[in-house]
Amino acid sequence: MKIKSAEFILSNSDVAKCPKNNIPEYAFIGRSNVGKSSLINMLTSRKSLAKTSGRPGKTQLINHFIINKEWYLVDLPGYGYARVSKSAKKTFQKFITQYFSLREQLVTGFVLVDIRHKPQPIDLDFMRYLGENGIPFSIIFTKADKLKPKAIENHVEDYKKILLETWEEVPNYFITSSSNNVGKEEVLEYIESLNSSMELE
Ligand code: GTP
Ligand code: MG
Repeated sequence: MKIKSAEFILSNSDVAKCPKNNIPEYAFIGRSNVGKSSLINMLTSRKSLAKTSGRPGKTQLINHFIINKEWYLVDLPGYGYARVSKSAKKTFQKFITQYFSLREQLVTGFVLVDIRHKPQPIDLDFMRYLGENGIPFSIIFTKADKLKPKAIENHVEDYKKILLETWEEVPNYFITSSSNNVGKEEVLEYIESLNSSMELE
């Protein structure tokens, strides 16, 4: 898919105030610092459309971007960031889960996980929450530039094994590196295929 335009629309912490247009929407979620905002910049080929930072906790609101004037990309705050106060963390959790349970325009969520780490309970719990609520999602492994190909393969296999303990099938997944532009076409093609399947409905 060719990205002709990518524009920031608005930020807020209240799902009721998100844009009302009924156009397909895709949201990126995962732990703080996993690379959600960087991935949005890679997908759109815009260096600083979404704000990134080496320090976790950079994105604190629900951010809507409109792509090709046809669909939304949504950058969300991370979950599981220990250094924000407990009460702030609770607020994140609440509006993140409200976003996922109330946002009818959401076509699919992308749960980002850092390919370097073993499967973490918080990510598996979040996937379980999505599954139990019938919210479709794919997994995006991030920071693939940090591992050698063999290690990538091993980490993905480990992840699949753990997922198959709770899921009947492994969810759709992508291997990406925002630093090296890896996985961009695959994710964009997937979004494009979902957008066109919805036009047929
Ligand atoms: P929060 O907004 O805090 O939840 O974080 P985020 O998930 O949006 O992460 P962000 O995109 O801000 O990236 C966090 C850090 O990881 C930054 O220092 C990025 O440069 C780095 N990073 C993101 N993606 C990649 C990647 O593919 N490879 C490498 N090596 N670093 C990455
Ligand atoms: Mg961010």
